[in-house]
Amino acid sequence: MRPLTEIGAAVIGSGFIGTVHIEALRRMGVHVHGVLGSSPERAAARADELGVSRGYASLADLLDDDRVEVVHVTSPNHLHHPQVREILYAGRHVVCEKPLAMSSEESGDLVRLATESGRVNAVNFNIRFYPLNQHAHEMVADGALGDVRLVTGRYFQDWLLLETDWNWRLEPDRGGALRAVGDIGSHWLDLLTFITGHRIVSVMADLATFIPTRRQPAGSVETFSTERATETVDRAIETEDTATILIRFENGARGTVAISQLSPGRKNSLQYEIDGSDAAAFWDSEQPDQLWIGHRERSNEILIRNPALMGAAGRGASALPAGHVEGFADTFRSLFRAIYADIGAGTPAERPTYPTFADGHDEMLVCDAIAASARDGRWTDVVREDFQ
Ligand SMILES: NC(=O)c1ccc[n+]([C@@H]2O[C@H](COP(=O)([O-])OP(=O)(O)OC[C@H]3O[C@@H](n4cnc5c(N)ncnc54)[C@H](O)[C@@H]3O)[C@@H](O)[C@H]2O)c1
Repeated sequence: MRPLTEIGAAVIGSGFIGTVHIEALRRMGVHVHGVLGSSPERAAARADELGVSRGYASLADLLDDDRVEVVHVTSPNHLHHPQVREILYAGRHVVCEKPLAMSSEESGDLVRLATESGRVNAVNFNIRFYPLNQHAHEMVADGALGDVRLVTGRYFQDWLLLETDWNWRLEPDRGGALRAVGDIGSHWLDLLTFITGHRIVSVMADLATFIPTRRQPAGSVETFSTERATETVDRAIETEDTATILIRFENGARGTVAISQLSPGRKNSLQYEIDGSDAAAFWDSEQPDQLWIGHRERSNEILIRNPALMGAAGRGASALPAGHVEGFADTFRSLFRAIYADIGAGTPAERPTYPTFADGHDEMLVCDAIAASARDGRWTDVVREDFQ
């Protein structure tokens, strides 16, 4: 495998998450040659601020840079499909942010294109790469919980609580037809599919929009910004603030998840509990170095993340010794290390250890079923095509 220091990357988007991508790549030794922004001026300004040598004028300009072998796509959702298409046509490997696309037609198209291209394709479901989530995945696969029966949880945030809170995610033509589900629910759905090893086959969903009109600032707003604009325009909101979803998994397990972007005080709280026939596991993203393991016939345990006490997967995703808390930004390093192992080899492994476009597409198909179920008020099966 080639050394990571020989591999060049570029990043599209340098907002909240693009910055995290750049820092994780640098930590691994990958050279970030440049960034692309919403305009040549913004790209140049962000390149300066981030200490990156080039702000590209356009995607064509970026793809003309022969040093760039991998492109990270961290632009708003509506740009993922057209940008990833161009990147694949130009023969580059791609790491795309979630959700992979705006619709399952688009994400299916990207799966086909990526397969034909033979390039490494990954979706940034980084939450899988908290070390204890890798460990929980391995525990389930090894049978440590027994048969998975009940999967419950939530993903709550509060940054869209007020009618004055605004972000491009609120505009369906930039964020997608599902908002809370597409933005954060997608992480939970992917994570629990990954940890349990069982796909979601049917859903019953209830979506609610509690703030039907929001006040959009006249100027642009950064993600998670708390600034209040003085000049605003009233905008009707069509997408959901909250979702409550009943789930059936392919092994017969049942589940339920609540998703909300207006839960006061909850900044970024993803929780899950998996109840198996022998033991249970509970994890909370706001205490990411702790995994609760529940038993019936003996004392419950709290496993504090510890490379010496976890299996190979958890150990592999850990960068620091026990007691030195790892967090959100560290998951990018661990996920990218898995992806770049394949990039170093030049082609995707037969069974990639990271989320691929196929996983991103599967999550879009689950979202289709969620939208249809909420619209029709009934249980709805996930429809999967043959190529999956
Ligand atoms: N994995 C995660 O945990 C996670 C967290 C946050 C966001 N995301 C995803 O990352 C993406 C970006 O979200 P964000 O919160 O960083 O948003 P953001 O608004 O903070 O940043 C978006 C960036 O895209 C740039 N941009 C806009 N138009 C562009 C264009 N035409 N070409 C190139 N760049 C353009 C903007 O200048 C900005 O730098 C979204 O798809 C989102 O779902 C993922």
